[in-house]
Amino acid sequence: MTDVTHPAPAFSLREAAQLAMDRFGIGGRVTVLDSERDQNFKLSHDDGSQWILKIVNASEPVSECEFQVALLDHLARNNPDVAAPRLTISQNGTPLADAISDAGERHAVRLVTWLPGLPMAMSGRTPALLENLGRALGRLDSALQGFIHPGALRTFDWDIREAGAARQRLHHISDVADRALVRGLLDHFDAAVAPHLAGLRAQVIHNDANDWNVLVDEDNHERIAGIIDFGDALYSPLIAEVAVACAYSILDVEDPIGAAATLVAGFHAEYPLREEELDVLFDLIAMRLVISVTLSAQRKEKSADNPYLAISEAPAWRLLRRFGAMNRRFATSILRNACGFEATPGARAVVAWIEANRKSLAPVLDRHPATQVKALVPYGDPAHPMTVTSAARQPDKATAWWDAWCAEHGIELGIGPWGEARTVYTSDIFCSRFIEGARRVHHLGLDLFLQAGTKVYTPLPGTVRSVEIEEDPLGYGCLIELEHRPDGCPPFVTLWGHMAHEAMARLKPGEKLQAGALVGEMGAPVENGGWAPHLHLQISTDLNLSARDILGVGEARYLNVWGELFPDAATLAGIPPETFVQTGRTRPEIVAARRTSLLPNLSISYSEPIKFVRGEGAWLIDDRGRAYLDCFNNVCHLGHAHPDIVEAICTQSARLNTNTRYLHDAVVTYAERLTATLPEGLSVASFACSGSEANSLALRMARTMTGSNDALVLDWAYHGTTQELIDLSPYKYKRKGGKGKPAHVFEAAIPDSYRAPLDWPVEEYALRFAESIGEQIETMRKQGRAPAFFIAESIPSVAGQVILPEGYLREVYRMVRAVGGLCIADEVQVGFGRVGSHWWAFEMQGVVPDIVTMGKPIGNGHPMSALVTTREIADRFNNGMEYFNTFGGNPVSCAAGLAVLDVIERDRLRDNAAAIGAYLVARFRAMQQRYEVIGDVRGQGLFLGIELVNNRKTKEPATAFARKVNEGAKVRGVLIGTEGPQDNVLKMRPPMVFSRADADHLIEVLEDTFAMVSAEGA
Ligand SMILES: Cc1ncc(COP(=O)(O)O)c(C=O)c1O
Repeated sequence: MTDVTHPAPAFSLREAAQLAMDRFGIGGRVTVLDSERDQNFKLSHDDGSQWILKIVNASEPVSECEFQVALLDHLARNNPDVAAPRLTISQNGTPLADAISDAGERHAVRLVTWLPGLPMAMSGRTPALLENLGRALGRLDSALQGFIHPGALRTFDWDIREAGAARQRLHHISDVADRALVRGLLDHFDAAVAPHLAGLRAQVIHNDANDWNVLVDEDNHERIAGIIDFGDALYSPLIAEVAVACAYSILDVEDPIGAAATLVAGFHAEYPLREEELDVLFDLIAMRLVISVTLSAQRKEKSADNPYLAISEAPAWRLLRRFGAMNRRFATSILRNACGFEATPGARAVVAWIEANRKSLAPVLDRHPATQVKALVPYGDPAHPMTVTSAARQPDKATAWWDAWCAEHGIELGIGPWGEARTVYTSDIFCSRFIEGARRVHHLGLDLFLQAGTKVYTPLPGTVRSVEIEEDPLGYGCLIELEHRPDGCPPFVTLWGHMAHEAMARLKPGEKLQAGALVGEMGAPVENGGWAPHLHLQISTDLNLSARDILGVGEARYLNVWGELFPDAATLAGIPPETFVQTGRTRPEIVAARRTSLLPNLSISYSEPIKFVRGEGAWLIDDRGRAYLDCFNNVCHLGHAHPDIVEAICTQSARLNTNTRYLHDAVVTYAERLTATLPEGLSVASFACSGSEANSLALRMARTMTGSNDALVLDWAYHGTTQELIDLSPYKYKRKGGKGKPAHVFEAAIPDSYRAPLDWPVEEYALRFAESIGEQIETMRKQGRAPAFFIAESIPSVAGQVILPEGYLREVYRMVRAVGGLCIADEVQVGFGRVGSHWWAFEMQGVVPDIVTMGKPIGNGHPMSALVTTREIADRFNNGMEYFNTFGGNPVSCAAGLAVLDVIERDRLRDNAAAIGAYLVARFRAMQQRYEVIGDVRGQGLFLGIELVNNRKTKEPATAFARKVNEGAKVRGVLIGTEGPQDNVLKMRPPMVFSRADADHLIEVLEDTFAMVSAEGA
């Protein structure tokens, strides 16, 4: 073993010059160079060439001298790219010569070329230089891969594996605090690092890239000119190379870990490091410093006159003290991040898991945060009164300001976003431990601001890790940490800060909480660290951090690292991303732009229009991150943005979209699949783009078949937007702008059982209402006319969700057919299984129409429609005139249509519609018991109506009440509509995926709204 305490050789300048000449045949001027254990001389020849003559410490074993020679030789042969000294062959034919000292000791002697350059110690340390140093060492070690020599297997104090031996030198450290610091570092090294070293990659490394051994280009101080002095080279863990270089390069810099990260990244770029190597790097850097300061402390006693020993002692101590204050896991995360690894293993998987499972998380608040009206708390604005009062530790003032503002603006939930830079963190605990003079200002949790006492719940099962009180001013107050271990996800923890102290007595470490279980209550300022009441919810992907270790506020420079260790909890808390970022035009801007650029006839729902930016299942999310439960828009039949439909459309769009003039599988397959859902006989399909187009085609067919133009319709019907369909729509032609009923149209009464004359027996409703049809046919007959067709929705919708009396259509179809007319079922709103019991609503009436038209839900939002009829009608319609619809039946539409059918069948959505529909009707009926205003509840599957009346006897329509409920539900985040001739029927057509929880939410909101409107008076 090398004896580091053996005195260095003591040859004179003259003797050195003589040795150079005798052993290597080279003469020149000799000057002394510094060396710790050996003796180095610079030899300068008159022709400008320069060498270093090295007289090796007599205690150095021969094998080690031979090792260095072999090493330099290996480098010269294998990688001339790395600038390292070159050996000179001595007179004896080998690079190694020897010399005997006056004391009779034998010293190995060698002569190597002098590398031009400036020691890095004499240049400034820029990030570029550190990165280049890392790269140079990476290339050097890359070149040394596979090189081995018996002399490399040496053991000495500067070997990082021997760092534990520094414990024997602890007593040389006179300062008690310093000694404790080093002891602590050694304890950790022994316990957690040393046992892993043998498992790490090892090879021959330089092992002493201190800034006197690294030369930079004289003209460009950021370029590495060479690496010298291989005297400490040995076979050791590769990562020790990086640790040693870091230990010297990051002394006295503002951000030592950042500087180390830069160097490490350079090394990694040339010679990729492994995660397990980076995981010990912080401690190995510390150990290099520990070896250095303990050896210095020891040698200071023995050889107080050797200035080399103390050369880096003071800065090393300063760095060690800074290391002592740092969290080694954070430092390690920074180093890992610099090499592109996740800050802690599993961090990225946790985020991905939360995102993938966000829909199954339990709400953290009684009212799901997504459904609440939210606004950001103004902590991002340093001058804001709420920020100023919070920073000045006047939480009551901050709370008062916030409460007043929320009341004025209708805000229900305040949000403090992840990553926000804040000036509120004024106390000393927010000083950075990594960057000198920097403060931690970026918020790493998610804040939810509500009243003190608000209960908060865990979104997924968890085990209580700790419950404690953090007393620091502007600290957390009561702090709860839960550990979560969901299937298929790396474990992670959640931190719940600023809580009420009641949790201290209630929660016990180790206690298991179910998803949705109470975690605690938001604390009042006296209990929550002195803040306006809020929950600080934070995720830590590093399970090894205790609640207090977790960094609630971080430095700007390492926000990307903190983002992996402490990812944004917004998704976990169910806060939509739109809460934080608004894109596009504001609502008023869009309203204004519509006024200038769009038809003014377009209506906008609600007195305060909503801008939706995203849809998901039964939910629509507005531009401020509020989710509305969509119980109205039946186009999104399977829910908004259904992944199967999106996928089908995208895949087919990316492949081909043409028209029916070319052969394609999809159009015929779709026709087969669609007709298979209909009763026998309805076997021929035609495709178009809108319900109106499908109905228009139906009219053409009926007129071709019958030669008549006359139509029989139901009052208050709506069948489409073209002129010929407006003519068939009393809902349009009777109202503002309408020209009244055209002469060819005959209108029968709405078969509305709720408004049937009191003297009609219920069982006769069908026949009695059908009499109105008979009357119209009779009127036509008297005019010498006969209906080409009877068209009706199978559940008249705009007429107020009118469920036809049983047997009605059977009777009507009989009458119409008796006079040669066709029967058209408009299933544009009600089709595709919405009624639950059947695919098509007409089936409930036990009839088979001649023509069925379909639209709205058919493509889950993709604009398409269909008509299905009989072979006979189809053949008769084929009168020589081509039917071509540019977009109808295109492959993309057919793909969407097929996917819709698939999902309805696969997910048994008709069953769902039936079950949830029945549940809703039962709940509505229960409400009817309590609210006089509810005159009638009706529905079939998920096609539902609640008719409101001011008087149950007179059935006077409660139109104003209905309008208020509609607006009130919207204010509470639920979309419904109003319909009926008097606009007094609440209309609901939620998507087929509507869940029991969605239904409960709808009921809850309706209950609330009815209570409010009833109290206010309509
Ligand atoms: C019953 C009914 N038929 C036809 C249509 C017309 O469909 P589209 O708007 O797709 O042309 C509608 C549209 O609201 C409708 O409700």
